[in-house]
Amino acid sequence: MLLTTTRIGTFCLLLALFFPWLPFLLYSEDIIPFSLDQFALKRNAANETWNVVITGANSGLGWGTAFHLAKIPNLCIVMACRNLSSCEEARARIPIIHHNSTRLVCVELDLADRASIEAFSHRRIQRLFSNSSADSLSPIHVLINNAGFWASSEEVEYIDNIESHFFVNHLGHVLLTHYLWKRLVAGRARVVAVSSLSGIYPVSPLYGWRRSDENSRGRWWLKYSIIRYLSSKQAMIDRYVRSKRANLMFAAELDDRFRNTVTSVGSHPGYTQTPIFQKGLKFLPKWVVKVLSKKSIVSMETLDGAMMQVRAALDNEIQSGSYVGPRYWTFGAAVLVGRLRGKSLHHWHFAKAESKMLWEESFSVLGISDFGK
Ligand SMILES: NC(=O)c1ccc[n+]([C@@H]2O[C@H](COP(=O)([O-])OP(=O)(O)OC[C@H]3O[C@@H](n4cnc5c(N)ncnc54)[C@H](OP(=O)(O)O)[C@@H]3O)[C@@H](O)[C@H]2O)c1
Repeated sequence: MLLTTTRIGTFCLLLALFFPWLPFLLYSEDIIPFSLDQFALKRNAANETWNVVITGANSGLGWGTAFHLAKIPNLCIVMACRNLSSCEEARARIPIIHHNSTRLVCVELDLADRASIEAFSHRRIQRLFSNSSADSLSPIHVLINNAGFWASSEEVEYIDNIESHFFVNHLGHVLLTHYLWKRLVAGRARVVAVSSLSGIYPVSPLYGWRRSDENSRGRWWLKYSIIRYLSSKQAMIDRYVRSKRANLMFAAELDDRFRNTVTSVGSHPGYTQTPIFQKGLKFLPKWVVKVLSKKSIVSMETLDGAMMQVRAALDNEIQSGSYVGPRYWTFGAAVLVGRLRGKSLHHWHFAKAESKMLWEESFSVLGISDFGK
């Protein structure tokens, strides 16, 4: 009896370790499957050109998204990147055959720099859009807030006294959405927040990102090297996760406040093979990074991972406040995995009061008034 129980226990443990997505086979809230080809047919019949902005489109998922969207006619796709030459290189890797009536343009945007965000929103994209003769209000129909980074340095970096992940991954996109607001409203846009499965990890985005929050130094227990070691690694994970949970809360709050004006959808790419792992996970032992950077049965190729944000951006069946992710947690087809506000196996639930506070603090720290005001 004891032996049988041990065997069953071991079997379940191994299943949980190697096939963590198994429970998700039973779980899907999905609606009608999405087909990019059918969407392209619909767009073919449309006269109006749609303007699409993708941040961080020179690499990984942003590039993958531009690649898919370039198959769709009648789009003007703005690849917003901080490094123009790398953006042009990335654009050249999208086969010209896809372009049809669609244009791909590279525009400079550094989300770590407020002046760059303002220049991008007000001047750089000014004459790009085809329907922009008397510009000031040429619409944007899709904004994909995709850019993000995971720094490998243990040293905390600050931008304007704000921790850099929080600034670039969250506040930079808040500011961008703020500056583009009138265009987004004019286009009744879909705004996609690219978050992460790491959002299942309960870190509050309300604390720990101001320079003044850095108060844990000098605590007596940090003197012990093993605790110090673990806590510094922990802090590197927290910094990234905090910014990604902020993306989710921002999307939920945008849905609550402006559901009738724009469509706010969250997405996460599960575990997609992109440079973020080589860039960001250097703090892990080399062999772990090597394993994580290799194709595996639980990971996806860039173009498959990018389908999450493509579906979130285009599929009208996905309503405001939804969360799109891979069918099997870290990989699989893009499906509706839950509501941003609801409970989901793809993110740790957060309270309304928490996201409201984050929204208000974000606006206050950026020194901007609410959208549209
Ligand atoms: N891959 C995954 O499995 C995974 C999982 C969860 C979440 N995500 C999220 O998916 C998004 C895309 O990441 P990825 O996997 O495609 O990684 P990636 O290939 O490293 O792409 C990140 C993009 O963000 C850009 N970026 C970084 N800092 C920027 C800044 N200050 N201003 C403007 N752009 C900046 C990068 O530009 P440079 O090339 O110039 O650095 C790059 O284009 C991120 O938000 C990430 O958090 C990815």
